[in-house]
Amino acid sequence: MGLTRDVLKLLKKHREQYLSAQEIATQLSSSRTAVRKAIHQLKEEGYPIHTIVNKGYQLNPACDLLSSEGIHAYLDKELKPLPIKVYQRISSTNTEAKQQALKGAPHGTVILAEEQTEGRGRLGRTFYSPKGTGIYMSVVLRPNLHLNQATQVTTTVATAICRVIEKLTDEHPKIKWVNDIYLDQQKIAGILTEAVTDFESNQVDFMIIGIGLNVCTIEFPSEINEVAGSLHPKNLTRNQLCAHLLNELFSLLSNLNDSKLLEEYKSRSNVLGQWVTFTKNQTVYEAFAEDINEQGELVVRLKNNEQMILNSGEVSIRWI
Ligand code: BTN
Repeated sequence: MGLTRDVLKLLKKHREQYLSAQEIATQLSSSRTAVRKAIHQLKEEGYPIHTIVNKGYQLNPACDLLSSEGIHAYLDKELKPLPIKVYQRISSTNTEAKQQALKGAPHGTVILAEEQTEGRGRLGRTFYSPKGTGIYMSVVLRPNLHLNQATQVTTTVATAICRVIEKLTDEHPKIKWVNDIYLDQQKIAGILTEAVTDFESNQVDFMIIGIGLNVCTIEFPSEINEVAGSLHPKNLTRNQLCAHLLNELFSLLSNLNDSKLLEEYKSRSNVLGQWVTFTKNQTVYEAFAEDINEQGELVVRLKNNEQMILNSGEVSIRWI
């Protein structure tokens, strides 16, 4: 057991390079066979150790294990009390968060998982959530909001994700209306917002904000392989990314009515100013995306000059 932890420490210390079994064995006064056994043990525990024949082993820095302590270390002071729970394997963090909210979980409860077996996306889709390579996170919010302000929350979350990626990496992600985050024409993140409301007043009882961000996923199922991508940050752990996402999220949500937020969301859109296609009532339309209004709806102009307002669903961009 001691050797396994020592190997882990050494890999963490040399994140930038590959270490061969011989190098590790020499540094730890052990044998190559014992080192290989230790590496095997670490992989079983879920550590994403990348192996290259004739080169050795490297711990993928972005794919460090998630932990509540690891995230708390980078949270803003006022967010330190946030209850954060990390599951190894769960059906869906949104489903778990909803169950906990129904039992009274407080505003700001964060549920994370290393792996989701039934990760959910918008429009009844699944969200591919393989072990140890992404951020699958749900946050319980108890805002004082009317249901028709819920879209504003989603657009704000999308803006927060883009801000964090820009702050911490060299990348400049874009938002595909409503809430998909794209890098180089590949989707790297999605948001699933779910709300439980009072039937009569339509006042939000609680909301679950689900964020799925592919951090270092390399292989995707063939049906999404062309359109899905990953962030692949350098020298940044998922714990750090999670903490910064929470910092930005809570900071922006406390200014939800700031009109500059919508302007920022629009400036990050990869849909505005593009020709898009979409389906409504079983008819396929082609239109020019003109604007996103205060309700977060997409304003498009058809070829016959008629204006249409889309409040849900999805558009495909006709990349020229
Ligand atoms: C989409 O792309 O349509 C939204 C994807 C949202 C995925 C996240 S992962 C964490 C949370 N739990 C889920 O089951 N879904 C959301």
